[in-house]
Amino acid sequence: MTDTDFSLTASPGRTLPVATHASGMRIWDHDGAEWIDACGGAMVMSLGHCHPRLVEAAQKQLEKLTFTYRFSFSNEPMIELASLIREIAPMDRGWAFFNSSGSESVESAIHLALLYWQHTGHPGKTELISRYPSFHGSTLGALGLSGSRWRQGFEHVLDDNPVAQAPNADIRSGLSPEQELAFGLQQIEDAIIARGPENVAAVFLEPISGASTAAVVPPDGYLEGVRTLCDQYNVLMICDETVTGFGRTGTWWAVDHWAVQPDMISFAKGVTSGVTPFSGLAISGTIADVFAAAPEGFPFGHTYSGNPVGCAVAAEVIRTIRDDGLLENSVEMGKRLHQGLVEIADRSAHIGQVRGRGLLQGLELVTDRESLEPLAGSSYRLAGLARDRHMMIYSCPTPLGDRVIEAVMLAPPLTIGAQDVDEIVERLSGAVEELDRTS
Ligand SMILES: Cc1ncc(COP(=O)(O)O)c(C=O)c1O
Repeated sequence: MTDTDFSLTASPGRTLPVATHASGMRIWDHDGAEWIDACGGAMVMSLGHCHPRLVEAAQKQLEKLTFTYRFSFSNEPMIELASLIREIAPMDRGWAFFNSSGSESVESAIHLALLYWQHTGHPGKTELISRYPSFHGSTLGALGLSGSRWRQGFEHVLDDNPVAQAPNADIRSGLSPEQELAFGLQQIEDAIIARGPENVAAVFLEPISGASTAAVVPPDGYLEGVRTLCDQYNVLMICDETVTGFGRTGTWWAVDHWAVQPDMISFAKGVTSGVTPFSGLAISGTIADVFAAAPEGFPFGHTYSGNPVGCAVAAEVIRTIRDDGLLENSVEMGKRLHQGLVEIADRSAHIGQVRGRGLLQGLELVTDRESLEPLAGSSYRLAGLARDRHMMIYSCPTPLGDRVIEAVMLAPPLTIGAQDVDEIVERLSGAVEELDRTS
């Protein structure tokens, strides 16, 4: 191996460990050091690294068929995966469309939403409403939906979509759950009315937030309320489950914690547990029917849409989650992890909230528990202190009004056992103690 890394992933001045192999939640580097991957990189490793069933599924598919172009061929893994998505998706008569990244699937959802309204006689419905804080991807359409610090530098080319504040995102609000619910719904309704319902195509939201705000769970009734508003104003409800798709929060989808049927759900990250780049959309039958009847079908997408290797692996992820009871494990181990985090928080002055569902858990970092003001720079600092203990956690500093919220997130594999949960908690506890001592 050469000594210099010319890939732009290596930020100047930062030397990253070079990973050589991995298994479950552990990665080894070329110096032989072992690392705990407590956040699956970026919430990707749903079944951990190199799960044998996924490696085998990929290998088998690689020997049979590696690529089809969607205008020329369908393929067996894609047909099978679409039917598995139909089984697990909350919407009636769900269809599916597959891409290679979360951003691509959000772009496809935008294409589908706008074309749906054109095909059904409402070409003026072109406005998209999203929330802040949020993150929906780095391509310009998806970034335009994002209420995120990553907009900086690109604002002049981005749409101004994030106009509704997400409920429960501001732990300093002092609002009761009922007030947060009313506030969150009012934000959506005001946005639809301000833009004119006749102009609005869709509301995009992360049902349980991911990279932007570290696992914020909405108040009960919120998603149902958004669904009602979308029906009332004839607007599509599109849920971005890039982070939460396929079991991360203890149910197949985060929306399953509430009785909600979105019009579309985008998914990515954990759906192939990092074996291949892959993503997709679950689409309600009502929308899919329109494209099934359109002369051109749905002509947008990307060169690798419906890639057979990705489809074979994603189908195996669904079968493994079912066979091994991993939704149940996510609930049980999620409770153990949450409890461990609560105990860390009880000992620390700098944790303002522990939140999340299943194996997506977040900690918000504050100067003190009375003011709950963000502890500036602490999410990167805590991630650094965890890294000193050879553990990766995900840092999520996010602007909200004139503050930058500081939070970190954990997302270990759904396959995790009690001992590994305890090891994560122990290493994090040491990192938080050092943050406390040095803040
Ligand atoms: C909710 C959400 N949507 C979309 C994306 C974009 O996914 P990708 O980086 O695979 O394009 C992300 C990435 O973090 C995400 O968290």
